[in-house]
Amino acid sequence: MSKITPNDEVIAEARKQFDKDILDFIDDCVKKQKPHSYLIAVLHKVQEKYGYLSKEKLQAIAHIMQIPAAKVSGVASFYHLFHLKPKGKLIISICMGTACYVKGADKVAKKLKEELGIDFNQTTSDGKYTLMETRCLGMCAMAPVIKIGDDVHAKVTPDKVLSLLEKYKNI
Ligand code: FES
Repeated sequence: MSKITPNDEVIAEARKQFDKDILDFIDDCVKKQKPHSYLIAVLHKVQEKYGYLSKEKLQAIAHIMQIPAAKVSGVASFYHLFHLKPKGKLIISICMGTACYVKGADKVAKKLKEELGIDFNQTTSDGKYTLMETRCLGMCAMAPVIKIGDDVHAKVTPDKVLSLLEKYKNI
């Protein structure tokens, strides 16, 4: 009978962080020729499932994939598309592409930041809204464009921000 090593126990504990579908995915990646090159794919998968990458999950990924924890958190914090904190119920994304910028997206962003009391990539303390900036949404003719949840709002001006937020206050 093979002996259980302390490392096995750490990995067993780490595995408890994930549901079976995620574990299957990570296990498949670990079996590949260069498992480390699948780290970003694993981070995406974990974020897709749990909404963000908590410290505990990053640590667990490091143990299961046998990658130094500093490397895992380094990669997770390097890429903007990874979230290390929980996101709000509603994501507000403002397009900062050229057409939107020229039409005043920065002023709309400033107003949104003031009203919500947060900066980009932050979540309001009530956990309701996360503010993000995004690249061109492909609706340049309707600039400046913002997305609130799945709704797209066109030709937004700073003075429309309050009434827009009002529509979502009961989420
Ligand atoms: S630049 Fe904003 S939609 Fe294209």
